[in-house]
Amino acid sequence: MQFPEYRARRLRKNESFRRLIRETRLSTDDLVYPLFVVGGKDFKKPIQSMPGNFQMSTDNIVKEALNARELGIPAVLLFGIPAHKDDMATGAFAKDGIVQQAVKQIKNEVPDILVITDVCLCEYTSHGHCGVLEKEEVQNDATLEVLAETAVSLARAGADMVAPSAMMDGQVAAIREALDENSLENIPIMAYAAKYSSSFYGPFREAAESAPQFGDRKSYQMDPANSDEAIREIMLDVEEGADIIMVKPALAYLDIIYRAKQEFDLPLVAYSVSGEYAMIKAAAQRGWLDEEKVMMETLTAIKRAGADIIITYFATQAAALLNK
Ligand code: PBG
Repeated sequence: MQFPEYRARRLRKNESFRRLIRETRLSTDDLVYPLFVVGGKDFKKPIQSMPGNFQMSTDNIVKEALNARELGIPAVLLFGIPAHKDDMATGAFAKDGIVQQAVKQIKNEVPDILVITDVCLCEYTSHGHCGVLEKEEVQNDATLEVLAETAVSLARAGADMVAPSAMMDGQVAAIREALDENSLENIPIMAYAAKYSSSFYGPFREAAESAPQFGDRKSYQMDPANSDEAIREIMLDVEEGADIIMVKPALAYLDIIYRAKQEFDLPLVAYSVSGEYAMIKAAAQRGWLDEEKVMMETLTAIKRAGADIIITYFATQAAALLNK
């Protein structure tokens, strides 16, 4: 078909036609809302580079989870900022750890929202790396044990799903095995399978106080230049027992999301990270972009690329618009 027989504009004539032929539909059901938990009570501190997001004590986290549930968001993703950090990240798997406490309270008071917990050590280590160190090197296999213990501890506290993000080799298998051994075989794993060493994590590291004290994460997170490697990484996680696979970040990695969707049939989640959020917020604050429109366009694009689920700091803002 060619012009003038075919006129693409016929079906763009008005909003009713456009609705009828729309291929991608964003839904509140697709969204996961990340939250940052700290100790104390009645604490709510704005995160400078992520306007609208806060470090919150558990009482406020519960309120925010309730708000999310009322908006129809199916899940929250918890990150913890412990009062004390040490070499071995003991705060990550402490029975009364900050995220463990938050999980318990949310599950008590807002039982029907899913609570997903990040499983990583960078927020809990004094050096800010995602694993345990020997000299200045992150030790893969020693880290696996700590990650597995952390996942079990979080699942015991009531987490509905664990999300390992440390990018250690074998982390999904280690966690699956530990969960199964502890009769937690029904807890799924959402694997940060293709996680890039990205500068778009900058604002998150302020939020989670997790910037590495020396060096960078390039020896464990992926090189942004690689695409085939992402497929290998995801394949490994699938073989190790991942239930949901992730590509992170999202916006600069839509090609990876697209490839992952073509090659794997597991649910695919895209993490639209802190820097993606900050860019839109900052430009909107200057009046340079229309915040709501760019937010919706971006989320729709991530879904169009192939994501089934989107982790986004815009979750509540987008849900409020979608529910209108
Ligand atoms: C933990 C972790 C990070 C993010 C999610 N989990 C930071 C990092 O790897 O440095 C980043 C999320 C974001 O930027 O929104 N390892």
